[in-house]
Amino acid sequence: MARYLAAASVAWLAGTASAFTLLSAPQATFTSRATKISTNSNSNLLAHRLAPVHAARIETSMAVAAGVRFPFTTGSRVATKKLVVVTGASSGLGKACVKALANKGDYLVVCAVRDPEKMKTVADELGLPPSSYKIMELELASLSSVRQFAKQLKAFAANRSIDSLICNAAVYQPAKLVPNWTEDGFEMQLGVNHMGHFLLVSLLMDTIKKAKDPRVVIVGSITGNTNSIGGGLVWPRADLGTLGGLEKGGVKPVAMIDGKPFNGAKAYKDSKVLNMMTVNELHRRYHKSTGITFTSMYPGCIAETALFREKRQWFRTIFPLFMRYVTGGYVGEDEAGERLAATVADPACKKSGVYWSWNGNAKQVGVLKDGIVVGAGGAGGEMFENEQSDMVKDQARAEKMWELSTQLTGAKWPAAAV
Ligand SMILES: NC(=O)c1ccc[n+]([C@@H]2O[C@H](COP(=O)([O-])OP(=O)(O)OC[C@H]3O[C@@H](n4cnc5c(N)ncnc54)[C@H](OP(=O)(O)O)[C@@H]3O)[C@@H](O)[C@H]2O)c1
Repeated sequence: MARYLAAASVAWLAGTASAFTLLSAPQATFTSRATKISTNSNSNLLAHRLAPVHAARIETSMAVAAGVRFPFTTGSRVATKKLVVVTGASSGLGKACVKALANKGDYLVVCAVRDPEKMKTVADELGLPPSSYKIMELELASLSSVRQFAKQLKAFAANRSIDSLICNAAVYQPAKLVPNWTEDGFEMQLGVNHMGHFLLVSLLMDTIKKAKDPRVVIVGSITGNTNSIGGGLVWPRADLGTLGGLEKGGVKPVAMIDGKPFNGAKAYKDSKVLNMMTVNELHRRYHKSTGITFTSMYPGCIAETALFREKRQWFRTIFPLFMRYVTGGYVGEDEAGERLAATVADPACKKSGVYWSWNGNAKQVGVLKDGIVVGAGGAGGEMFENEQSDMVKDQARAEKMWELSTQLTGAKWPAAAV
């Protein structure tokens, strides 16, 4: 009984509940200046005088602008590191993942963020060694920004591999009564969480496949899986219907994938279904031909992240406590970041087509076992291959999603070997 009460409480709580630049806005000036001064033999010196802190990145920028191929001017060690791209690296799970990868010492993390200045502050706060990260601007609410980012990333990595891509960024807008729209007219959560990443994978796949151990990860969620407490008992449930909204064009005024009236919380969950379906389709279509490991994962409930920024303060105070002490679904940012980092760094995560989870499938509230709360996907426990809901696994719908997302984003895919 206690379990059902707890589950009901979760349901109630949760229910209420541009272009690439290596630098930030003022620094962007340096990037364009760098273009102009790239033929100047004193350009490196000038970069150091302009902004000593960013000199390394400015040099890189100059090299890119001048069409110079790497190895970098800033230290040969960087070029020997594995390159991992993390979207949404400036907050929450993405930030913790960058920290985890940077701490390993053999990764160069491209922090693909909408606000490079914020990322610089975050990197300084984390004390990231300059050789462990690069900041690049990526606005997922703009398909032209996604294209520009991919182009510039490829130029940046021209003489090396892009080993892994982690599609982590997302927005959650449960309190919106009317939709926000991306530059291309998609409802914001659909556009940022799914469409932007869908296009990004298509643009980078040909480069990523050349890496030794290539991996593409798209962060999923139990909230998109109706076979879990968070996704099955908490209203509204994810439901793509027959993808009528995407068939109608998928852009303003169409706000929902199923074509029904806008519901912010459902739009988020639906977008997470598309994230996980995309991974399943990528695996089915391209794993064998590219050798890329395509996976999704559920990090646990990281109840304090900015994802919940739209929730009222009382909710943001109680929710972490509730998830920690009542459901057992809570995981701290650092541990969640380690989990996400493992999906690209751990040999145990090499298997493709998997939806990774830890410490239980969250189909129940946690139970205390040997002093540890187990079963709800929270802190601790072992990694395992979780089961997705029937909707996420529905291949006919996934194929339709693939065709429609391809049309709507203009993504170009190689012929699939299926
Ligand atoms: N928190 C949880 O309990 C939980 C549970 C399951 C799954 N997840 C998933 O975990 C991932 C990370 O979420 P989080 O909890 O870490 O939330 P978060 O702290 O809000 O992080 C989301 C990141 O996405 C970035 N972002 C948002 N809109 C963007 C845009 N238009 N273009 C580029 N980047 C954009 C944000 O940038 P700014 O830094 O500029 O805001 C932020 O860095 C998401 O995929 C989410 O669905 C979270």
